[in-house]
Amino acid sequence: MGIHSGKVAIVTGGARGIGQAVARRLQADGARVAIWDLTASAHMDPSAGYTPDFSFDVDVSDFASVEAGYDATVEALGPIDILVNNAGINGPVNDVQDYPLEAWDRVLAIDLTGVFYCTRVALADWVGRGSGRIVNIASIAGKEGGAGIAAYAAAKAGVIGFTKSVARELSTSGILVNAIAPAITETALFEEMTPEHIAAGKSKIPMGRPVNVEEIASLATWIAGPDCTFTTGFVFDISGGRATY
Ligand SMILES: NC(=O)c1ccc[n+]([C@@H]2O[C@H](COP(=O)([O-])OP(=O)(O)OC[C@H]3O[C@@H](n4cnc5c(N)ncnc54)[C@H](O)[C@@H]3O)[C@@H](O)[C@H]2O)c1
Repeated sequence: MGIHSGKVAIVTGGARGIGQAVARRLQADGARVAIWDLTASAHMDPSAGYTPDFSFDVDVSDFASVEAGYDATVEALGPIDILVNNAGINGPVNDVQDYPLEAWDRVLAIDLTGVFYCTRVALADWVGRGSGRIVNIASIAGKEGGAGIAAYAAAKAGVIGFTKSVARELSTSGILVNAIAPAITETALFEEMTPEHIAAGKSKIPMGRPVNVEEIASLATWIAGPDCTFTTGFVFDISGGRATY
């Protein structure tokens, strides 16, 4: 028995990194967990130290794929209680005048529109339900911006604005919608970043280290849980003192 006992959670981009840690933690806290990601093979990574209850190939930037994933998850695990919108890409690090047009579209499609698609599909199903939790993984970049990552920062700022808006629409519904803004953490997302970009990200953290994925998972499980009752539309900071607002 855990705080999420009897609950069903979806974690997008749950095959690795932050999403994998969040999925593992939600399951350890009692939830049955479905992970959505681009390829099924990645979902079964034995190094994850747990087995998801269900996994499905979903491209969050494709609305039909999100709908198919949602239906398949309900069929496999029953009604969904928790949605963690975590899937995301960094995109190339490039100043705006050189930023590839195709990359801008792709980053926005996955990091922002994907959050809208998954939320829309869940909320259409949750009408009249009276409960539910949505946790959006934004980024410190959405608050502060970052040189070379304008598309990513714009998408993450968009996620923050989206979170606040949906929360207001749902304020008396029993469904809480919040976001998390992590500082830099060492995951495969680093592969898209330049060494200078990574060093710059780390140097801005007053605690002097990157956040680790378990710390983010620990915050996410609380926000998604029964003790979080009076907070919605909020952006939870986990930046080692970098953001003091
Ligand atoms: N790593 C960091 O420093 C950091 C900091 C702040 C916020 N974040 C955010 O945290 C989230 C997770 O990042 P991570 O560091 O674990 O990255 P990651 O690259 O390790 O994991 C991201 C996962 O999302 C999946 N994914 C990518 N595109 C997808 C799509 N179209 N549909 C479905 N799944 C897709 C990938 O396959 C991967 O499994 C992202 O939203 C990222 O922006 C990361």
